[in-house]
This record gives sequence, structure tokens and C-alpha cells, in this order.
Amino acid sequence: MFEELIRDWNGEAVAIHYDAPSGTWMFVAIHSTRLGTAGGGTRMKVYPTPADGLRDAMRLAEAMTNKLAIAGAAAGGGKAVLAVPAIPRGEERRRLLLAYGDLIESLNGAFGTAPDVNTDERDMDIIAERTSHVFGQSGAAGGSGSTAPDTGVGVFHGIVAAVDHVYGSPDLRGRTIAIQGVGGVGGVLARLLAEAGASLIVSDIDADRAVAIAAETGARTVPPGEVLGQACDVLAPCALGGILDAATIPTLRCRIVAGAANNQLATAEDATRLGEAGILYAPDYVINAGGVLHVLALEQRGWSREQLDDALRGIGRALTQIFRSADAEGITTELAAQRLAEERIRTGATVAGGATA
Ligand code: NAI
Repeated sequence: MFEELIRDWNGEAVAIHYDAPSGTWMFVAIHSTRLGTAGGGTRMKVYPTPADGLRDAMRLAEAMTNKLAIAGAAAGGGKAVLAVPAIPRGEERRRLLLAYGDLIESLNGAFGTAPDVNTDERDMDIIAERTSHVFGQSGAAGGSGSTAPDTGVGVFHGIVAAVDHVYGSPDLRGRTIAIQGVGGVGGVLARLLAEAGASLIVSDIDADRAVAIAAETGARTVPPGEVLGQACDVLAPCALGGILDAATIPTLRCRIVAGAANNQLATAEDATRLGEAGILYAPDYVINAGGVLHVLALEQRGWSREQLDDALRGIGRALTQIFRSADAEGITTELAAQRLAEERIRTGATVAGGATA
């Protein structure tokens, strides 16, 4: 029930609104404003019960706090969930989004939102009719465009940091990197890695897409079912979550897992499993922070491209710090990342975009 969830949560506040015409529960979970006002995406989803939607919002809000803290973004973490009975379309969707915009506006800037699962830039344009606390609008409405390219750049820096940590040199020439999913992020990543001299293996359920990227980058393509087991230095999951579990981890033949996909670990124990298998894992929410940095930099902070590029390189620097402290303390990189986030929240450290550390 809501009472228990809210009582047991370590976040700051939850705003709840029930939209009677559609039967939608709206949850805005504000986990932390310690480093700045809370930001996070709006997820639209059908949940078994409203409490499941609230639980998801709370969990994801906490993850945003950690992600933004490690990215040095001087922003707090939040998340919104629209727990709908069915995904609405057309006029019904528009009416719901306007009502949701009113809810955000009523929070007076305590929470700003952006697209997430089942919401896109057109939805943000509608929400913006009611509130200015919205990011990721369409280009025509002044949005900063797709986040995928900068997410890809951040993942690239993360891979370089991981390779440097494992092999003692950041040079990618001669390294083999397998990419699962060459869509918006994976495609950009493949190009950057190829330019840096890496040998690539690519895989996508959209075979034409894989073939096109392979033609551009000199990559070898493999069927989707075979990519995880490829012998390589780095496996870069850039498609789906939940791919690393008790069944798949023993089949991996890589030294590093470093990619954009959210929630790569099926369970918390899988971080330990990877460590025991001698595989260095770049925590997904650290290495894929380029998208959120893109939005903050270009839509809220007014950073120059140089400042954003430095913040993206900061993803590599944060990972190096995480890898070293995991080694020094004999803990998983997941736990080391969690501790770095806590330290940055405690000390109020913000390092991106030229802010002081
Ligand atoms: P996308 O939808 O553009 O690309 C995903 C690609 O993976 C598609 O080409 C799809 O055909 C392929 N794919 C799906 N299932 C597959 C499978 N079983 N095997 C091989 N390929 C498969 O998505 P995008 O934007 O590139 O994002 C990739 C991942 O990164 C997602 O997990 C996303 O949540 C995550 N992410 C993306 C960010 C962004 O800024 N776009 C930011 C942070 C995380």
C-alpha cells in the first residue's frame, strides 16, 4: 500500500494525483534536492496495481539522484510515473498530458521532466503548454534534439577508461569490442570506436541496421543470439536491460562490460557474479549519463559545447575513480559507484560544466 511505501522510502516527497476521467494515477517522486532541483523522466506504463507504479517512481527517482550526482550535474533526482489503465492515444492522450502538465506546474519548479519509456518529444511539447519545467521537447519547440549521440560519446569515454584500467593503456587499436544493438546510441558508439582503431563485432535484431553499420565501420556482424558469447575485450550492451544474469554471465568471453543499456544486471547479485568472473563492469547509470548531461547542458544550463564535451569526458573520469576504489576496497563497481554518489551528495560536489568540485 501507499502508506508503507512512502513511510519506508528515503526520498523527500511524493506528489500523487488521480486523474478520474482516464483512471490514471500520477506519481511524482522527488528523491533528493540536495544538489539542485529534482529532474527525471516521465514513464507512462500499465502496472498491475497503482502501488507498483509508485514503487517504480520511487526506485527510479533514487537512481536519478545517484546518476546526476556522479555525472556532477548539480541536479537532484526525481521521476514521474503515469500509471495508465491502457496507453492512451490521440485526444485522450493530449488531455491526460495537459492534466499532468498542471500537476508539474503546481510543484513550482521542484521537479522538471523529460521523455522516458512511452513518452516522447511530442508529449513534452503538450506538457509544455501548461508548464515550463519540461525538457526534451521537439526541435521545432526549442528542444535540444536526440540525446542518443551524446549518450554514445559518454559510453565511448567510459570504454576508454575501462580499457585503460584493465590493460594499462587507453589505446583502442587492436582491441575487439562487441556491440549489442546499433540503434541511436550503439550506431554512434560504433563509429567513434572504429575511428579510434578498435575492431568491431555488431549485432542487431534489425539485420539491415547491423549490415549498414558494419559497412561503415568495417565491423563483423553476428546474429543477435550470439553476441553475448563473442570473444572480445569489451562487450557493449546498447539494446536491452536484464541481459546479465546467472545464465548469461558464465557464457561471456570478455574482460569488460561497458554499454548504454539501462538496468543491464538482472539482479543485484549479478554485480558480484561479474566480479567473480574477472569481468570489469561499468555501472550502466554512470556510463550512460551522456543523455541527461546533454539535456541539462543545452536546455537548462546554457553550457557551451566545450563544457558539455568536458562533462562527457567526466564520465570516463568518474568511472576511473569507481574502478580504482572498487579494487582498493575489494567491492563491486556497483557498490563503489553507490558510495561515490553518496559522497558527492554529502559534500555537495558538482564537477560538470566548469562548476567547482
Ligand atoms: P534504439 O531503440 O535507438 O536502439 C536499440 C537497438 O537495439 C535497435 O536497433 C534494436 O533493433 C536493437 N535491439 C533490440 N533488441 C535487440 C537484441 N535482442 N539484440 C540485438 N539488438 C537488439 O535505442 P537507443 O536510444 O540507442 O538506446 C539503447 C539503450 O541505451 C537502451 O537500453 C536505452 O534505454 C539506453 N539509454 C539510451 C539513452 C539515450 O540517450 N538514447 C540514454 C541512456 C540509456
